[in-house]
Amino acid sequence: DPVRFISNRSSGKMGYALARSARDMGADVILISGPVYLSDISGIKTIKIESAIEMQQSVERNCKKADYIIMSAAVADYIPADYSELKIKRNNKVSKINLVPAPDILKTIQGKTSAKIVAFALETHNGEKEAVRKMEQKNSDFIVLNYANEEGAGFESNTNIVTIYKKDGKSINLKKDRKDRISKKIIDYVLNNSSL
Ligand code: CTP
Repeated sequence: DPVRFISNRSSGKMGYALARSARDMGADVILISGPVYLSDISGIKTIKIESAIEMQQSVERNCKKADYIIMSAAVADYIPADYSELKIKRNNKVSKINLVPAPDILKTIQGKTSAKIVAFALETHNGEKEAVRKMEQKNSDFIVLNYANEEGAGFESNTNIVTIYKKDGKSINLKKDRKDRISKKIIDYVLNNSSL
């Protein structure tokens, strides 16, 4: 309803750090951002969206002209099936909310862009196995694995610890570092390991 929503703990810090690093390295950046408590970044076209569907539409509109797409957003997997224009009142006695699958954005842009794609995987366990599975299923060129339950990594943290996997089986571990420095290292790795 207009008052409630279902979301997750993502702060957006990693995505904003990646956008800033790409800008600093000379890229023409479009940042598609869900609702976050972060300041806009000057010199970057920022498209604000509020739902997985809006993010999908925005990514689809912009993916053709991109050379690189970095999907660090923690997009919902399930979204409410119905929306009420009016606030649902306590005495409506809602006992369950029906959910339907959200579009898998990376899957829906397959074949619609020639951009190199960098996916993210946020895991709590079986990280490597899950990351490699997602890279294959979502047909991304790279996937950046990080853990939600590791000290100094994941949601809200100003630091991160990541491993970057590449399609050919290569991988690299980045030690714990500030998200702004990790983001530059991710972009450096992607640029040095892809030919357009
Ligand atoms: N992603 C996406 N569309 C979604 C959900 C995720 O494009 N609806 C992207 C994320 O931005 C990320 C990658 O897919 O780059 C992996 O996201 P993640 O949430 O880790 O994976 P899921 O496919 O949701 O798998 P699971 O819930 O089983 O971990």
